[in-house]
Amino acid sequence: MSEIHVVSKDNRQLYQNYFDPYFRLRYDIYVKQRKWMALDRPDGREIDQFDTDEAVYLFCIDGGRLIGGMRAVPTMMPNLMSEIFPYLNIREPIQRPDVYELSRIFVIPERRGEHAGPRIDMLLLTAIMEYGVSTGLTGFSIVLESWWLPRFERCGWKAHPLGVPQMIDGMSVLAVLVDCDEATWASLCGQVGLRKPALTWRGLAGVNRRALPDLWSPAPLTVQPARSPLHGAGDCAT
Ligand code: COA
Repeated sequence: MSEIHVVSKDNRQLYQNYFDPYFRLRYDIYVKQRKWMALDRPDGREIDQFDTDEAVYLFCIDGGRLIGGMRAVPTMMPNLMSEIFPYLNIREPIQRPDVYELSRIFVIPERRGEHAGPRIDMLLLTAIMEYGVSTGLTGFSIVLESWWLPRFERCGWKAHPLGVPQMIDGMSVLAVLVDCDEATWASLCGQVGLRKPALTWRGLAGVNRRALPDLWSPAPLTVQPARSPLHGAGDCAT
C-alpha cells in the first residue's frame, strides 16, 4: 500500500534514510534518463539550490521503498521561476505566502502507468492538493513542459498560463499558476477512490494546519416510483 508522507525541516530527521536514495533517484531520472545535463553533479545526486530547509517534500513510500516524489518551495523564497526562468512569467512575479512552487514530480519507472490501482502520479497530484488546502495555500506555481496541460485538464487541475510556451533544450516549456482549492482536492479524491484525507504527517503535530473533513459518500440509490399507467410508453413530450 502506497503512503504519501509530508517531509519538511520539522520532521526531516525521521526520514534521514530516505534522502540519499531520494537524491540518487532524482539523478537517475532527471540526469541519466531525461538527460537534463544542467543538473549533472559528480556525486551522482541531483540536488539544487532550491533544496533548502524551506522545501517541503512529498515522499510516496511503498513497503519501505521510495517510489515517487514531489517538491514544493515557498514562492517567498528563491525558486525556479524567479531565479532560472523569470522570462516565462510575463505577469507580476509571484512572491506570495499562499503560493508554493512545485517541481521534481516523478514516479520510479516500474511504477508508472499503473492500472491495477490509483496511479502514483495521480496520488501525488491529490496529495499536494491536500497539503495545500490543509496549510492554507491558494495556488501552485509551476514551470512545466506543455504535455502536462492535457493531463491537468483531464484530472481537473485548473492551470492558468503566465506566458506563452518557449522551446528550451528541445522542450516546450511554460509557466502556470494552478488553483489550490478544496473542490479540486475532493474531485481528485473521487477519481482515485479516496473518501478521506490520506497524507501522513508523521512528526508534524506542531504544524499549523486545518484538519480536512472526510468526504461525502453517495447515498444508496433510491427506487424510482412506478410511472402512472396514464403516461405509457407511447407518450411523448412534444
Ligand atoms: N514527454 C512527453 N510526454 C510524457 C513524458 C515526456 N517526457 N513523460 C510522460 N509523458 C506523458 C505521455 O503522455 C505518456 O503517454 P505515453 O504512454 O503515450 O507516452 C503519459 O505521460 C504517461 O506517462 P508514464 O511515464 O507512462 O506514466 P505516469 O503517468 O505514471 O507518470 C510521470 C508520469 C511524469 C510522473 C513519469 O513519467 C515520470 O516520473 N517521469 C520522469 C520525471 C519527469 O519527467 N517529471 C516531470 C518533470 S518534473
